[in-house]
Amino acid sequence: MADSAPVRLAVLVSGNGTNLQAVIDRIDAREIKARIACVVSDRQEAFALKRAEQHGIPTVIHEIGAYSSRRAYDTALVEILRNHGVQLVLLAGFMRILTDVMVEAFPHAIMNIHPALLPAFQGLHAQQQALEYGVRLTGCTVHFVDIGTDTGPIILQAAVPVQKDDTEETLAARIRQEEHRIYPEAVRLFCAGKISVDGRQVRILS
Ligand code: GRF
Repeated sequence: MADSAPVRLAVLVSGNGTNLQAVIDRIDAREIKARIACVVSDRQEAFALKRAEQHGIPTVIHEIGAYSSRRAYDTALVEILRNHGVQLVLLAGFMRILTDVMVEAFPHAIMNIHPALLPAFQGLHAQQQALEYGVRLTGCTVHFVDIGTDTGPIILQAAVPVQKDDTEETLAARIRQEEHRIYPEAVRLFCAGKISVDGRQVRILS
């Protein structure tokens, strides 16, 4: 793999883009052999777009408005990604659930970061769900995306202790630090050809 071409990534965002930034930083540091071919946002006002522009990364605003269905939206999304030669798609705070159209177009080549130790606390407000349940440990999970919500094969996880005075915000901030460590690491492993998938089992090759 030493002299292979950089893997072409797309990062899909809706908001702040701190995970996008973490990946950009590790690529810039030459720790990940990849190039971000495009950042796609479903929201024009996403700050993540500014982060991309600051690094000279092409951006695409792909809003739901014009599309009659989620599948039609995803069909157009696949075309955008194909036109950019994308090999690996990263969901980084992208607030839309993908349909079979996207999942089947990029088998085992779409990753997501979720702010809980899956399969616990799937869906929205995972940090608040953890607080309400009363767990002592939560964390974050990088997984491949399948047709379910937060159900795909798990690549990496990191545990984060819950402190007794935590709010949703303080817990989210502590989890986010770990997200910024394990998401780029999962991308690095993929781009180095060190991930294989067998059913639900993701193997990290040495
Ligand atoms: C993170 O908490 C991530 O776990 C979730 O969405 C949030 C994105 O944050 N999927 P950011 O836009 O990367 O800062």
